Amino acid sequence: MKRKSLEQKMENPLLVLETRNYCAIASEDPCKHCSVEGYVRAEPQMNSGVDWLNIVEQFSEFGENGHVVLKNGAGALGDSEISILEKTLNEGLSASITTEGVCVPNKFKSELYKLADEHKNKLGVTVSLDGETRETYGQLRRPEHFDSVVSFVRDAQSHNLDVATNYVVHAGNVGSLQDYVNFVVKELGVKKINLLELNSTGNAKRNGLKEADSQQYFDVLMKTFSEGDEQIKQALDGTFAAEVYKAETGLSEGCNGCPAGSKGMYFIQHDGEIFPCSSLELPQYHVGDVERMTLAEADKSMEFEYARKVAQSLKTENPLVSMCPGRLESFGEQGRMEQATEMTKIITNYLKEKGIELTKGDSCNCYSPAF
Ligand SMILES: C[S@@+](CC[C@H](N)C(=O)[O-])C[C@H]1O[C@@H](n2cnc3c(N)ncnc32)[C@H](O)[C@@H]1O
Ligand code: SF4
Repeated sequence: MKRKSLEQKMENPLLVLETRNYCAIASEDPCKHCSVEGYVRAEPQMNSGVDWLNIVEQFSEFGENGHVVLKNGAGALGDSEISILEKTLNEGLSASITTEGVCVPNKFKSELYKLADEHKNKLGVTVSLDGETRETYGQLRRPEHFDSVVSFVRDAQSHNLDVATNYVVHAGNVGSLQDYVNFVVKELGVKKINLLELNSTGNAKRNGLKEADSQQYFDVLMKTFSEGDEQIKQALDGTFAAEVYKAETGLSEGCNGCPAGSKGMYFIQHDGEIFPCSSLELPQYHVGDVERMTLAEADKSMEFEYARKVAQSLKTENPLVSMCPGRLESFGEQGRMEQATEMTKIITNYLKEKGIELTKGDSCNCYSPAF
């Protein structure tokens, strides 16, 4: 199989921004699973002084297919974030926001819809909808918010935004996955579902939430995928079920593992600190800050090279299983490879039973990072 060249890898640069260190929900009654420690009891802040428009301008030099993601906490979307989206779209790039869909101000929504109208197919929203009912949703988030999140999804769809949903998979909701997928795709018309496995850190750990059993997760997702029609298969593209299906049908394209390790991907914190990904906000992955270096300088720095190397070294043995290095880190030195190998074994055995043999490096479930 033909491997992708470095130039090809840099064809889809990704810039993830968190422009404010604040979440209105986290400062009052945080989501039960929330891993973002910095938000706990944080106060709304003044502008941090980072020139975000300049950062976007620098990023636009990396290629015309660049995509900017804004992943602010609840209640932290306002005029300056609209300006960032506007600048991104005017540079000819695409953009999306990741949001809980509960505390989005009406003014922000109307500006967002206006931009979506002016820049067709360039603006998206990823909504954290962690359940198909109030009850399932309520395992992680405040159940009374469920209806307004669903309304926001419908509203955004009707205003021509590309809508995706995030679903954090854990022991309590893994059994509802098929119902969730059917609801989101068939009733809400969503085209992409990101499945995020629970990271047992922060609130998730404090609240005793448990990761889903790997075998149960594998069985449920495979069933959902194989019983799903084309629309459902499309929505689940980027999950391991889609990759197993491609391997079975000989359509596997190949992949380079963690995108932070291989692609032009950058995460900038509210204060301008640079990391390869928002799942890798750890000292060993710190690259620098935007005050001291341009994005191009950061990209070429030894720190970035090191961070990428570490991210890539955490690949598993099965070419279909590329686990998020940030998630592996959360299991600690002892547990991380065991966790990674559990799903690896399940998928390897499944393929072996079907008589399919893959060589390392052929392909992986480039687990569609969900920001
Ligand atoms: C940190 S939030 C920021 C955006 C916004 N506040 C929201 O909740 O959508 C981004 C995504 O991370 C997910 N997330 C938070 N804690 C997590 C955890 N412990 N494990 C996996 N995903 C988590 C959220 O569910 C959300 O989809
Ligand atoms: S998951 Fe999102 S909305 Fe919930 S507390 Fe964390 S940052 Fe806030």
